[in-house]
Amino acid sequence: MKVITTIDEVRDQVKSWRNNGESIGLVPTMGYLHEGHQSLMASAKKDNQRVIVTIFVNPMQFGPKEDLASYPRDLERDKKACQQMGVDLIFWPSADEMYDANFNSYVNVNGLTDALCGKKRPGHFKGVCTVVTKLFNITQPDRAYFGQKDAQQLAVIQRMVQDLNIPIEIIGCPIVRESDGLAKSSRNSYLSEQERLAAICLYRSIEQAKQMIKAGEKSVATILKAMQNVINNEPLAKIDYIEFVDFATLTNVDVLKQDSLCALAVYIGKTRLIDNFIYHH
Ligand code: PAF
Repeated sequence: MKVITTIDEVRDQVKSWRNNGESIGLVPTMGYLHEGHQSLMASAKKDNQRVIVTIFVNPMQFGPKEDLASYPRDLERDKKACQQMGVDLIFWPSADEMYDANFNSYVNVNGLTDALCGKKRPGHFKGVCTVVTKLFNITQPDRAYFGQKDAQQLAVIQRMVQDLNIPIEIIGCPIVRESDGLAKSSRNSYLSEQERLAAICLYRSIEQAKQMIKAGEKSVATILKAMQNVINNEPLAKIDYIEFVDFATLTNVDVLKQDSLCALAVYIGKTRLIDNFIYHH
């Protein structure tokens, strides 16, 4: 497995794989890899002859008051996680390698990025779309793998690829959870022991919603109320948002329908966690 820090070297490697007719799967990450990322690598490995993992904590997608400086990083651990999964190449660029001093071009997906997390994190998805486009252009994969945990990110990237005719297949992969249901996230490492216990309330509220849906409930207002109750019963939790939207357009739905996305963001202490599920008949 190679660890490469420059764009030129990635291009050389990709060119030689392409000359051999090999297919390439890309797993873009910000590092501090966990089983969620490894499940993306496993899918990439299954579908492609070569797998590239990028590790880049992208400054452009962090707001001024967000956790860019404290975002967890551990390259040595990440290398082992990638090696275990049979990854061929890690691209680990510096911020200067990705953004030169005169950098001034951005990719913006309108509409979808104003919903859900976009309301609270202005500029976040512009940063994501810009860096993902750059990573696509640098690595030129056949397929790219994203977790459904970041459901809005997945919907936005799918829209972007379609709108801009980017010839890459986007594969969404299911959420990977801890044994008690908490969705795996690099940010879980911020939680104290007590907060870690409290964090289960996100999954509990999802389970509550799923039970109601199974019993025939279709009113979004009724389901939301029950979910809010579950989370409000946890003293360390504070709801940022819970919403039901159409997964493709991210516009709100009042009555549950096929492919409704229920997305939630909840503060546990100072840590903001997200989770979701997509409703299928
Ligand atoms: O999901 C992430 O880790 C990031 O948003 C991504 C897609 C790697 C872009 O920086």
